[in-house]
Parts: sequence; structure tokens; C-alpha cells
Amino acid sequence: MIKSVSKIVIAILFSFLFIFCGNKTDLKNSSTTNNRIEQKVDSVLALMTLEEKIGQLNQYTSDWTATGPITINPNKQEEIKNGLIGSMLNVLGTTYTRKYQELAMQSRLKIPLLFGLDVIHGYKTTFPIPLAEAASWDMEAIGLSARIAATEASASGIHWTFAPMADIGRDPRWGRVMEGAGEDTYLGSKIAYARVKGFQGNLGDVNSVMACAKHFAAYGAAIGGRDYNSVDMSERMLWETYLPPFKAALDAGAATFMNSFNDLNGIPATGNKYLQRDILKGKWNFQGFVVSDWGSIGEMVKHGYAKDNKEAALQAITAGSDMDMESNCYRNNLVQLVKENKVPIALVDEAVKRILYKKFELGLFNNPFKFCNPEREQYELNNPEHTKAARDIAKKSVVLLKNQNNLLPLSKEIKTIAFIGPMVKPKRANHGFWAINLKDVDSSYIVSQWDGLQNKVGKNTKLLYAKGCDIDGEDTNGFSEAVKIAKQADVVILSIGEGWNMSGEAKSRSNIHFSGVQEDLVKVIQATGKPVVVLINAGRPLIFNWTADNVPAIIYTWWLGSEAGNAIADVLFGDYNPSGKLPMSFPREIGQIPIYYNYFNTGRPADNETNTNYVSAYIDLKNSPKFPFGYGLSYTTFKYSDLKVSKKQMTDKETIEVTANITNTGKVSGEEVVQFYLRDKVGSVVRPIKELKDFQKIALKVGESKTVTFIIDKEKLSFYNQKAERITELGEFEIMIGASSADIRLTDYFELID
Ligand code: GLC
Repeated sequence: MIKSVSKIVIAILFSFLFIFCGNKTDLKNSSTTNNRIEQKVDSVLALMTLEEKIGQLNQYTSDWTATGPITINPNKQEEIKNGLIGSMLNVLGTTYTRKYQELAMQSRLKIPLLFGLDVIHGYKTTFPIPLAEAASWDMEAIGLSARIAATEASASGIHWTFAPMADIGRDPRWGRVMEGAGEDTYLGSKIAYARVKGFQGNLGDVNSVMACAKHFAAYGAAIGGRDYNSVDMSERMLWETYLPPFKAALDAGAATFMNSFNDLNGIPATGNKYLQRDILKGKWNFQGFVVSDWGSIGEMVKHGYAKDNKEAALQAITAGSDMDMESNCYRNNLVQLVKENKVPIALVDEAVKRILYKKFELGLFNNPFKFCNPEREQYELNNPEHTKAARDIAKKSVVLLKNQNNLLPLSKEIKTIAFIGPMVKPKRANHGFWAINLKDVDSSYIVSQWDGLQNKVGKNTKLLYAKGCDIDGEDTNGFSEAVKIAKQADVVILSIGEGWNMSGEAKSRSNIHFSGVQEDLVKVIQATGKPVVVLINAGRPLIFNWTADNVPAIIYTWWLGSEAGNAIADVLFGDYNPSGKLPMSFPREIGQIPIYYNYFNTGRPADNETNTNYVSAYIDLKNSPKFPFGYGLSYTTFKYSDLKVSKKQMTDKETIEVTANITNTGKVSGEEVVQFYLRDKVGSVVRPIKELKDFQKIALKVGESKTVTFIIDKEKLSFYNQKAERITELGEFEIMIGASSADIRLTDYFELID
């Protein structure tokens, strides 16, 4: 009897909800909309049992892919039918997402599942890895890359991507630098903002997915660059350097956040109330929900922060972790904790409401199968427009590190080219670490570097190939064949670097020199006396001093995705003039790490690179990086001139306008990333020797000049003091405009006054 009554109540409520939902497209972005959704959320919540509420907080991976150490839950499909799972990850495609959603529709309340996936740099059409895209400094291209990834992912049933990674990375031993935007807070904030906007578009539209700002927080500062390791830093450093990209993601409307594996100053992020409640949901008033990282709730036992999974569940829900990815802690303990009055039901309700709100906002209650359209999936994946965009940003992500005697660009009249190296023919490598469906990745459509060269050169160019060596291992038997074809060629292109699984999650490296005998291969090829171009494919900065000092031309190609081969060929032959600038400093040796451009001066700065006498320096190595943050060459040259500052004094209620002229003084058109740095000369805490505060990427034809304008306002002068309060202080500031952090072309000064 009771069952049938409750069924009637539910039927009435859902018809009310359905009428209310309708297809009203005006249910977006307005306070009335928020109120309407809140009312619907409250209505559903009122119907839910405690078990169903906690069910919404559970997330599990599919039965065929795991992106972490899997926990056993053999009853996933049953539990979905019983409304005990709220989200799945690693479920790909309209067929499978429909299948799982149909299970959810058999549950009592028919609450739809959320499908999440690591769509880090593309779904089917693969874009350059995020660190490579950061080297483009092109926010429009980066936003388009995310937009296309969202279009393809949503066409395949995905509602939610676990991106952007907003972690600042100053340590290239950490394999996940490939997934972020590098070392700089300003650039990283701009990129996080662009990526969230790109992924989410107009959230609720069928071609949008929820973004997920991760990993909150300071995961990139793992001691020793060892993944998952502890992080210990001042609150000031946290606010000054590591939090701003997350705030930018929030300002862009990020629907979700993901916490991080690391402990921060002794408290695991997953159980860190300061991070998740005080900052994110408190000071920043975040209205979305926080998902744990894979198993990170249960891992608090291993951290030694919880005595068992039950205590871990208590700590996590109390600290503001709304959804439990793959740890089983909420599933197995929260009902008991509520019944024992150890967890107030209000905490559970708050987490459930945040999650239900997003399901309503995505339109899933109205139509749980809204994203399951096979025809759309067929049309969107690898759509030629997407491929074109992938090639465009890939070209822009390449960084020209060296070009002695203008060896590059190559002439298309070259008779014979020897293309040598372990990265020439593989396709999978260009996908990078986070390729969709990690296990059996389809790389058939990737344009390899060999394919790209073949596509580019005409019939009158003979291409010779030799692998030379493997990416790893000591086997040099391939050298002789490589030397043989090099001697037959007019120019040699060498493609070496890292395999796709040498950077990424759980891929920290204690040694970031070229692996195996790759640099030995460079040496024997260089010894032939032929002109050599080296392509370096990697997910991080590598160390390659001999190559850098001896080879005439070097291009950093990262991992460029679907169109890698074509984009590289475009740059090699000058059909695109490289414009990339490094988003991370490249160390000379591991001993320099962590190395970054915006360091403090110290009381004994090593002003020049040779004096090591009683200054902050190494006796065996220069302090400076091999290649600095913001560095990248072009096939043309640019002149910086006519720096003008609108006034030499400002109050924090005023602004100063800074202009400069940039002229293309070379022989080909090109793009330049004009970088704007400031230095706060004296502060109540020591201030960096320079900080990137703005940049402009401009295109210039031969002989063309453009004026760039930068505005200095209070925000650009602010910083966090000892108490982690954001302040400005009177005093002198230095203006620096340059082509890299180490190539300052124009300087001036101004003063902040009362
Ligand atoms: C992984 C990663 C996280 C990813 C999640 C789901 O462990 O840390 O970035 O989104 O699990 O795959």
C-alpha cells in the first residue's frame, strides 16, 4: 500500500517537474532560473531516502577502463538500478552511456547519471597537450581547442570533463606538467579561464560539458617533483602563486572542482576544510560541487590522517568533498555515520543538492538521453573543421629553440632528406599521455611525422628513413643505417624525445636527460657534417645540453595530437613561421630544480653568471636556465622601440598606460608574443625580480609596425603579504617589455603614491 502511494506522489511530482522543465530554453543564467532549479532540487531531495542521497555521492569507473587503482564494486549495474550511484567515469560513446543511463531510469526516482571523462586535450580529434598549447600563448586558439573537445565529447554522451588542470608546475621532474599551463601564475590563470569557457560554452547546451578545475590545490608543488608527494608551503605562496589559476577557473564559471592527492601543510587536500570550505565554498562562494580525485578519500588512511575508511568518509564530507570517486568510503560508511549522528544529514543534503543542481542545469532530468545521439556522434568526431583547428594550434604550439645560420625553414627544392629517429613513424606518441580510452587508443587517424613530411614535400624530394635507436635502451645497432642514409641526404631531420608514457600521471622522472642512446645518435649524425635539425617530442622540459650546444637547429614539438606531422612539416618548410614561447624554464641540470623566472633576488644575487664568490650560485653551473620562460625564436626578427609611459606616478585609484612599437625587421611575416613584466622594487615581503603581468600576441608583415598597449592598474600592483592578505604598497616599480623573461628590450619606471 505505502509503496503505491509513494509511487503516486512521485508520479505527481515528476509530472510537475516535467511541466516545469518543459523545453524552456530560458532556464539559463538568471536568478529566476537558479531559484527554479533550486526548487526542483529541493523537491527531489524531499523524496530521497538516506541511501539514495548517499548514492548520488558515489562515482565509479566503467567496467573496461580504469584511470587509477580500481576498488572492487562488483554490483555497479545493480546499484545504478537502485539509485545508489550518481556518476560514472570512463564510459565512452552514445551506446554505452545510453545503456548505463537506461539502468538509472529503472531506479525509483529516475535520477540521471553524470558521465565524466578525462577529455584533457581533445576527445577524438586530438589537440596538442595542454603544456604545448600553453606555448602558443593564444587564448583564442586554446579556447577553440576546448570548445571542439567539448563538442566531440558531448556528442559521445559525456557531460563532464576532468579539465582544465590548473596546477602551477615549476618542477619538470613532475610528469603532470604536461597537463597544465606551466610555471607562471598570470599565464596559467588566463589559460584556465579560456579552457573553462571553451569546455562549458553555454552550459546546458547539448554541445557543452561541465569543466572541472583540478587538482585543488598545489598538487604541482610535490616535493622532489614526485607525483602524489607532500606539499609544504607558506599560505602566502599558496595565495600568490598556486591559487589564482583556480580562482580564474571559478570566475569563468567552472561547474566543478576536483581536489588533489597531496597533503598540503600536513592536511590531505581531500580532507582539507581550509581549502574546500573556507576558501572555495566560503570566500569564493563556489556553487558547484567538488569531486575527490581517484580514491583520494580512502587514501587518507594511507596518509595517516584517518584511522580507517569510516573516519576518512567523515573527514572528507566534513571538509567539503561532495562526490567520492572510486574509494567506496561514502558508499560503505556514510549511512552509518549519519545514523550515528557523526555526520549531520545537512552535510549530506548540501552535497546532494550541489550535484542535483548540475544535473538539472545540464537538462538531464528533462531528457536523460539528451547527449546520446549517435547521428551527432558520427558527424562530430574527427570533423574536418576540427582537424583544421588542431593543425592550426599545433603549429602555434611549436617552439623554435635554435636556428643557426637560418638553416630553417627548409627549401622545398631539397633533393634528399633523411628523416631519422624513434619518433618519426609512431602515431600513438603524438597523442600524449591522456588519450581517450587510455587502454586501447585508436591512433589510426593521427598524422605521424613521417606522414606529414610525405604530405609536404613534392615528388622531387627523396625521403630516406631510419629509426636509429629506440626511445630507451642501450642498443646502438641502428646507428650505422642512420649514418648511412644521413650521408646520402642534403639535410637530416632527427625526431627524438619521450615516449607517450614518459610524462603524465605517475610518470615522475629523476633524470630528465634524453633517455637511452638518443643523444649518442644525435652525436653520430652530427659528426657526418650534414646540416641537422632536431625535433624534440616531450611532455615536459628535458635536458639536452650537448644537442643544444652543437646542433644548428632545434624545434620543441611537445606532443601535438592528430595533426602533428602536418603541423611540424608546416613549420619545417616555413609554411608557418613558429611563434611559440616556452611556458616553463628549461634547466641546464636537474640540480637547478625547482627553477623559474620569477625568483626572489636574495641578499647575494649572482648578478653575472661567472662570479660565484659569496653569492647565491653554484660553483659548477650557471644559475640561468638553458632556455628561459617566454623564450622562442621566429624565422623573422622584431624590433622593440618607443616605450611611452603616460605618467610616472599613480595612485591605486588611477592607471598608467604603457605603449611600445614592435616592428617586423626580417624577411618573412610572423607573430610575436610581446611580454609585459613588472618589478616591485621594495615590499613588506620580498618581491620577485620580475612578474608577467600582461602579454599580447601580434602578427606583423615584413616591415610592419604595431603599437602595443598595456594598462597598469591596482590589480597588477597587488600581492599577498605575510598574512596572505591582498594588498598594494607605495613605492617604485620597474616596467620591462621583452621577447622573453630573459630578453628585456625596453624598460622604464613609475611610482605608486598615496
Ligand atoms: C586520476 C587523475 C585525475 C583524473 C582522475 C580520473 O587519478 O589524478 O586528474 O581526472 O583520476 O581519471
